[in-house]
Parts: sequence; C-alpha cells; structure tokens
Amino acid sequence: MFKKLFAGILAITLFQFVYADQFINLHSPDGNLQLGLNNRDNGDLVYRLTYKGKTVIAPSGLGFKLRVPDVSLIKFTLISTDSTLLDETWKPVWGEQSSIRNNFKQLVLNLKEQSGSGITIKIIFRVFNDGLGFRYEFPKQDKLNHFIIADELTQFALSGDHKAFWIPGDYDSNEYGYYTTKLSEIDATRGEKVTEIAVRTLYDKNAVQTPLMMKTSDGLYINIHEAALINYPAMNLVLDKSSFTFNAHLVPDAVGNKAYLQAPAVTPWRTIIVSDKATDILASKMILNLNEPSKITDVSWIKPQKFVGVWWEMHVGKSSWDCSGGQVGSQQATKVTHGANTANVKKYIDFASKNGINGILVEGWNTGWEDWFGNWKEDVFDFVTPYPDFNIKELTAYAKAKGVKIIMHHETSGSVTNYERWMDTAYRLMRKYGYDAVKTGYVGRIIPRGEHHDGQWMVRHFERVAKKTADYHIMVDMHEPVRPTGLHRTYPNFLACEAARGNEFNAWSMGNMPEHETILPFTRLMGGPMDYTPGIFKIKMSDYNSSKQEQVHTTLAKQLALYVTMYSPLQMAADLPENYEAKMDAFQFIKDVAVDWDDTKIIDAEPGDYIIIARKAKEKANWFMGAITDENARSFTTELNFLDAGKKYIATIYRDAENADWKNNPEKYVIEKFIADAATKLKLNLRPGGGTAVSLIPATEAELKKIKQYGN
Ligand code: NOJ
Ligand code: CA
Repeated sequence: MFKKLFAGILAITLFQFVYADQFINLHSPDGNLQLGLNNRDNGDLVYRLTYKGKTVIAPSGLGFKLRVPDVSLIKFTLISTDSTLLDETWKPVWGEQSSIRNNFKQLVLNLKEQSGSGITIKIIFRVFNDGLGFRYEFPKQDKLNHFIIADELTQFALSGDHKAFWIPGDYDSNEYGYYTTKLSEIDATRGEKVTEIAVRTLYDKNAVQTPLMMKTSDGLYINIHEAALINYPAMNLVLDKSSFTFNAHLVPDAVGNKAYLQAPAVTPWRTIIVSDKATDILASKMILNLNEPSKITDVSWIKPQKFVGVWWEMHVGKSSWDCSGGQVGSQQATKVTHGANTANVKKYIDFASKNGINGILVEGWNTGWEDWFGNWKEDVFDFVTPYPDFNIKELTAYAKAKGVKIIMHHETSGSVTNYERWMDTAYRLMRKYGYDAVKTGYVGRIIPRGEHHDGQWMVRHFERVAKKTADYHIMVDMHEPVRPTGLHRTYPNFLACEAARGNEFNAWSMGNMPEHETILPFTRLMGGPMDYTPGIFKIKMSDYNSSKQEQVHTTLAKQLALYVTMYSPLQMAADLPENYEAKMDAFQFIKDVAVDWDDTKIIDAEPGDYIIIARKAKEKANWFMGAITDENARSFTTELNFLDAGKKYIATIYRDAENADWKNNPEKYVIEKFIADAATKLKLNLRPGGGTAVSLIPATEAELKKIKQYGN
C-alpha cells in the first residue's frame, strides 16, 4: 500500500539539508500544507508548517533530554531518509461514518545524535490534507537499550497571540470549564478556584492541556493534540509568552521522571490539525488514522448503545450510592434512600425495556461506598460484593426477561493497585451474570501513591483495562481517565470515556457555562467519544430541593441536540424515568436517535459559539440533526441538501419555544412535524443556551397526504 516517493531527487535535497542548511519540504496530498525541516544556526533540528502559505508552526525544536543515559537528543547527523505515500480507505467498527480515508505523505528521518553518544533515532512525519502528525522512534541498537526520558523537547511555536480555548495544565484532572483568551492571557492559576474538582494538580501558570484549540487573527483554526498515547505520559503544553511557543510538558511519575522505555520504542504522534474552516477541524479523522487498526478480530459482541442509569438521582441528592443512605459526594446532612435497591433498579429496567433502550447502569451496587473518598485508602471496593438490598441474581434474570442488560460499575476511588488485583475476578463475575459493559471510575488520588492520572503508569493501566475487558468480551466506558487519543480504533470495545467536565457538574456545582458544549467537540472530543450524559429534562435542581441554586445551563431542546453534536457510540439518557414519562413527546427524539452512523455532515460551526451537525444512521435512511448555541440566541437557515434527492422525509423538529432560554425558561419546547426533502431550507431559531434537534425519517404514503410540506 505504501508507495515510494521521489526517491532519486530526495537524495540530492537531503545532501543540501545536512551540509548547506537547506530545507526538506513535504507537501500534503492537496498541496495546502507544507512541512519544512532544517537546522537552526546552532545546529538544532527544527520543523515548521504552513497552510496555504500562512505560518501554522514557526521553526520549532524536536528531541529529548534523557536522564538515563544522560544525553540530549537535539543535534543530529542525517543518515538517510525514506519517503512514502499512502492512500487507503478503512472501515471502523463503529463511528461517525462507515468508511474513513487515510491519505498522507510520509517522511522518515534516520538520525544519529551528534555529540558522540552514537544513539540513533527516527522521526516520522505524516502530512495529511487536514494536518501534520509526527512521532519519534528509538530503533533497536547497541547504544541504547533501557532509557529514561527526563523531558521531551518538542515545541509548537505559533505565529502570534492567537485566541485559545484552554483548560489549565494539570496532572490529574481535565474536568475544568474552558477559558477563551488570547495566548498572552493564559493563566492556569485560575484553576485553583475550581474547588469542585476532586483531585487537581496544577503546576505552572502557563500550562494548558491538549487538545488545545486556537484561532488566528487571519482565520486559521489550529488544534494541537496527540494520537496513540501508549506506554508514555500524556503531553501538556507550557507557553513561553515571549515567543508564543508551547513546549511539550510530559506528566511526571512519582519520582519525577517522565517515561521509562526500552528500545525499540515509539512515542505517541504529536498532532497539528489545521484549516481555514472550523467545520474541517470537526470533520478531521487524522487522529484516528494515526492509530493502529483494531486488535480485536471478532467484534460481533461490540454494540453501540443507549443506556439509562441509577445515577442522576444520586447526583441530584435524591438517593445515595452507599447502603446506609449517607450522601456521598454532595455532603448532604439528611439521609436518603439507597439508589441501587432491587425495586428501584427494576423500575429503570422496566423503563429501558419499554423504550427500546439497551443498557441500565447501576452505581452504588457494591460495598465500599461508605468509605470511598478522600482517605487515599487502598482496599475500598472489591467489585464483587453486592449490598444486601441489591439482588444481583434476581435483577439479572429480570433484565434478561425484559431484553435489556445491566451495565456494571467499577468505581476504583483511584486505588488502582487494588483494582488491578480484582480485575479478573470482577470481569469473571460480570461474565457469570451476562454483563457485557462496565463503567469504570477513578475519583481520588492515585494509588500507587504519587502517581498521577495522566502519567505513564496510569496510561499503561488504562490500556490494560481496554485489553483485558476485550479478552472478556466486555465494553468499557472510563471516567476520570487520561483524555483519549484515538485508541478506540485499536480497542473498539473502549466505547467512550469522560476525561472532561461532564453534564454531572450541572447537578452540584456552578456547572458548565452555555458555551461549554460548543467547545468540547473542538477540544476533548478530538481524541474520541465522550460519555457526556446528555438528556436532562428537569433543568433546575430547585425542583428536587427548594434551597438549591444549581441548574443545567441549557434549554431542554439543547439537551436533545447534544445526542447529535456530542458524538458517542454510548449515549446515556441521563435523567430520571419519571422526568421522561412527564414529557414522552420530547423523549421520542432520544428513543429515535441513532448511536452509530454511516455518514456525518458538519454543517456549520464556530468554537465557543455554535455547532450544527447532521448524521445518517448506520444502515438506515434516517438522518438526525443537532444545532446548539452558546449563551446567545442565533438564527440559521440550513439546507437539507444532504438528504437523498427525490426522497420525502418526515422532519420532526424539537426546538426552543419562542420565549425559552437556559436561565429563565429552559424547559419550554415546541415539537413540529413537516414533510422535508433535499430542497428544504430549514430555519433554525436557537434561543440563549438553546438548540434544535431534528429527526428526518422517510415518509410513508399516508404521512405524505396528512402532513404539510415545510415552508408552505
Ligand atoms: C464521577 C463520575 O464521573 C460519575 O459519573 C460517577 O457517578 C461518580 N464519579 C461516582 O463513581
Ligand atoms: Ca467525573
């Protein structure tokens, strides 16, 4: 599949590169992106990147500082190069589209460190139409076997004081709201005020996390992240404000080292996605393309799905995780009932079964919750002992009879040594009872003590969980993991994860600002699907407890639109059954919406402002559209030209009422039905913090006679 590129000419160019400080240039297949490589005056190797002639990355350093052996890898002699081209199409097990094109030009630099260590490394560059990916490789060699990375010296020098959508650099949490500022105004100490995050480890005023989204004053959208994070710590970025240069900052381990490797080894890919259209950023599949194909051959048991859960009722303080009814998490003095009791779980099973929802998550089913948080204690949960009022046998049989499945919950409280000891036993219990999906959680400081959520040790743990659950044919949804980097291509049983500030923050903190969901797809979701838990219908927490001020910062209609704009093959219908039963007309959208797709059209988008996406359900003719806005009301006219020409559809529009807004009137919505087709121009009126969800389902003859054409 790989084709050799311009082998002859290259030798000459490279000769110049080494001895006369000339550039090596490599263009993207469409010619818009250009990668340049050369040496600085001091001999350091640098790369640069332009898009349609505009600077994306100014000359930026590459290399490492090793601790063992004590060597800097920054000045190199070029031994040889290799260039190839790939153009292939592959089919994901599930995803936003049924096939993905992987098309890039690749250049490999074979380099020898210059100061006499004799160490050789390769740097592999892939230039796609949508961006650049590059990684380091340490080949097997006599001069390097075991080694310890003190620092990765990769830089991302930007061309100016861009607008940035950032969260503070942190070794343990990504659960921040986004700040939108100029690069020069980045101030990670703002994270110190975010006390509702369980474990935070801020470390530098100028540090941010990836995926980092930026917009330049001349209209370029730039996203920096990484792909295929395996056996290596996550990369944060620390800004040198004097030159707008980000320096890679790897999350350290308990003794201050970054990564322990043995040659042969590779690093994750460093990714820079770029376009002059915001919609292209959301459409990019580069990060997936840089990950390895599925390691799971039989994927028949992997099923994208919707689920409900004995979950939100604990977050809103109506019931508890622990059996004694104490309020874990919300520190409420009054005792409430234990949520995961057999009768209550049956209620959720009934609701799921009645509404065609496959899964029921049950949190608080197992012993340990009395003691789970804040003590840095090692043996809290055993993941196999149910509370006495949770009858696992009876519930398994009940769910089976109703054609649905309980989703297991493994909160580790950050005690990962303990979880690793229990994993096999816990997954065997799941197999015994026919559970095929687990939600894991890592709330708390990590054990082994001193390790961080995003360090190499934990990155290895998360991969082990993905692998081991796959061995047991179990799908997994991880909460509080390192943020994703496209590994769900390699482990498609890794359906989703959290790794950002989810909807739950709206239940018990100042919450997520209305713009939050217009930023997440440009940041966190670039690496993979998020278990955001949309679908909250009861917006104000004062409905549960009159003294509460907290609320979801969207309208109800926007909660529906999130099923389309926040891509995930695992989508929760997060609210309580009774709240859905009170509004079954609106719940119909959640019932209908797909979770796996043949095609996706990013219709319009601007980070921090709005997103409009349409998706076609896998192997069906149905389309679903979601449009969301930030705190501002916005109107759009959207052409439905993605629909099959000549086909008529019933468009069911779930929109904000004229007087709706997230703060004062969030639950008012209107549902309308029209006939629509590829020529329809749909008017969208999104209220402040609002949205519109639309289902487009082929119309029957009878419906065509009964229902009005849109716009007439
Ligand atoms: C935090 C998770 O994000 C949330 O979904 C879960 O309910 C709690 N931890 C308890 O495990
Ligand atoms: Ca969380």
